[in-house]
Amino acid sequence: MRISANTADHPSTSSAASQPAASADSLSKTYGRGDTRVHALKEVSVTFECARFTAIMGPSGSGKSTLMHCLAGLDTADSGRVRIGDTELTGLSDNELTRLRRDRIGFVFQAYNLIPTLTAEQNITLPMALAGGTVDSQWLTEVCATLGLADRLTHRPHELSGGQQQRVAVARALLTRPDVLFGDEPTGNLDSRSGAEVLSLLRRSTREMGQSIIMVTHDPVAASYADSVLLMNDGELVGQLDRSTPDVISQALAGLGA
Ligand SMILES: Nc1ncnc2c1ncn2[C@@H]1O[C@H](COP(=O)(O)OP(=O)(O)OP(=O)(O)O)[C@@H](O)[C@H]1O
Ligand SMILES: [Mg+2]
Repeated sequence: MRISANTADHPSTSSAASQPAASADSLSKTYGRGDTRVHALKEVSVTFECARFTAIMGPSGSGKSTLMHCLAGLDTADSGRVRIGDTELTGLSDNELTRLRRDRIGFVFQAYNLIPTLTAEQNITLPMALAGGTVDSQWLTEVCATLGLADRLTHRPHELSGGQQQRVAVARALLTRPDVLFGDEPTGNLDSRSGAEVLSLLRRSTREMGQSIIMVTHDPVAASYADSVLLMNDGELVGQLDRSTPDVISQALAGLGA
């Protein structure tokens, strides 16, 4: 099935709107051999337009993380192609992939992966510092204010709650204004209020900054913040919901046995 995510009707704020933020073409990946062989991805083709927020949902084991990791250059497929913008990932050297991930991709995982010896602000600005870029202090202030981190910036991770640590991880990913922000259950460890704040900020960043976001989640409420929800089952994309409510998303998932 070929899916073009986010063909929603509102105008894109991105200058590169005509070019997809990311795409996969006939992506296949298997794990194991013989009886234990698992087809994690079966010829998945999908296009993610710029400046849109897409959620990927489906039952456990349906291939969501595998797809996201291949799109983000963290893993390689057995066959098929992945593009970030106009760059094809297949054939890039390890160094080129590392640079692409550093300069053009943002990540937010369920585990926060903060550096314990650095303050919140140092953690947030670290990728920018490593890339040799200049921190946009206005954007830093805005991101931190929206995420409720303004009075926590001098704290180290162990002095922050789990929710605050995840908000630092989201701020770190947004600060570099990546071409694509990937999230795997980014609000999975947050209470519903902190989660809603994070999701609102993510949605705002697509509207106001042209940020492209691809998020894997099990939570229909989290997915309802997205412009589109892609449904996966058994290594395949099996459907798409645009601008949906949590109820509609829950029903679609129930239909997949999730
Ligand atoms: N490293 C691996 N070795 C063997 N099998 C794997 C490996 N990684 C994933 N798989 C298998 O590939 C399939 C897809 O896994 P994947 O992690 O993409 O699922 P998922 O949709 O993200 O699931 P969940 O919702 O539980 O996170 C599953 O059957 C899984 O067991
Ligand atoms: Mg997963």
